[in-house]
Amino acid sequence: MPSHIHSTTKVHRIALIPGDGIGTEITTAAVRALRQLSATLSTFTLDFTQFPWSSATYLQEGHYMPSDGLAQLKKFDAIYFGAVGWPDVPDHISLWGLILPIRKTLGQYVNVRPVRMLDGVTSPLKGVQRAGDLDWVIVRENSEGEYSGQGGISHEDELHGVATEVSVFTRVGVERVVRFAFEVARGRPRRKLTMVTKSNAQRHGMVFWDKVFWEVAREFPDVETDKMLVDAMTVRMTLDPKSLDTIVATNLHADILSDLAAALAGSIGIAPSSNLNPERTAPSMFEPIHGSAPDIAGKGVANPVGAFWSAAEMVRWLGEDKAADVLMEAVENVTRAGVTTKDLGGKENTEGVTEAVHDIYTMASAISVPNQSLEGNSLPPAYILSTSPRLSKR
Ligand SMILES: NC(=O)c1ccc[n+]([C@@H]2O[C@H](COP(=O)([O-])OP(=O)(O)OC[C@H]3O[C@@H](n4cnc5c(N)ncnc54)[C@H](O)[C@@H]3O)[C@@H](O)[C@H]2O)c1
Repeated sequence: MPSHIHSTTKVHRIALIPGDGIGTEITTAAVRALRQLSATLSTFTLDFTQFPWSSATYLQEGHYMPSDGLAQLKKFDAIYFGAVGWPDVPDHISLWGLILPIRKTLGQYVNVRPVRMLDGVTSPLKGVQRAGDLDWVIVRENSEGEYSGQGGISHEDELHGVATEVSVFTRVGVERVVRFAFEVARGRPRRKLTMVTKSNAQRHGMVFWDKVFWEVAREFPDVETDKMLVDAMTVRMTLDPKSLDTIVATNLHADILSDLAAALAGSIGIAPSSNLNPERTAPSMFEPIHGSAPDIAGKGVANPVGAFWSAAEMVRWLGEDKAADVLMEAVENVTRAGVTTKDLGGKENTEGVTEAVHDIYTMASAISVPNQSLEGNSLPPAYILSTSPRLSKR
């Protein structure tokens, strides 16, 4: 690259945490795609720093990240995460040793999970044939609720052993994620938001969530709203997917619904997840929604599409809209051509799909991306511009 480009090109510092299992494989694929993307566009560069924080580290050293790990991460512009969890370590230790402290401490209180049919991908649902048939954004509360970590176990090995797992819903926590979801819904063509809870059976926290939702809804009269109980929501997602657009739900409910959503859109291997600090007081974190998949780890067959889509969301968050569009265009050209892994019915491995995306960049020496954002592909520009939910004055 000519030296004058260095002086004008933006540099984004990225902390890379590949983690465990296929997390390492898909992170390698994503970094390759991102390097190729910045080389092709020459408008920005990515400066990666890799952190070897994994279950192997935990087994050797007794911790996932060092005591100053979170402080180290704060120096970066964004974090790219693979997956954490391995059969040798109980899952609650791996999650609470790495990913949950990052989300909570770095103020990543919104988790955005777009789901849609990519070209060339087949849904298990009969009625879902083309992109618009399933095009959702799930906004998940990411800092409290059922994953607040409050509770305990007493008399564990006794007959009278008792355990509590306390869900915590604060006004601040509910209001900020609900307002963010309304902003996302308002930025999408259908302006439609569905709120999911279980406020028939859970009569305190969920009723409070509903109440705060309807209060915030008054500020968004231009957004159509409706409410679903989480059990009925699984039915609606399966039988009437076209009736949904933006969805907001608690930490646990949205976690479960987004796995279902990914499967309905073809595979858990394609879905991205953005853990956002909307005020940008600390880096946000981007990762595919899937886990470390020990059953296929080391075989080189993991679907890298969710990793690529997460990488696209990351560069969009960093202000590189064109790069995000180019990357998603390349990915969708590849799925359209049927170059897919086994989970999508194809014959390729991780390397083959990554290579195909790479080839598309190479072929597109004079890339011209349509000016409009690929609607529904990721979040609309309004999403980027409206990411500082205001807490109402009370
Ligand atoms: N954010 C995270 O780091 C995260 C998320 C979920 C689970 N986990 C952890 O991952 C481990 C495994 O969890 P799990 O089995 O419940 O969920 P998983 O997502 O790892 O795997 C579920 C199923 O989907 C398949 N799959 C997942 N990603 C795929 C991909 N990219 N391509 C093709 N197939 C794919 C797997 O082979 C498996 O059959 C556990 O330790 C769990 O705690 C971590």
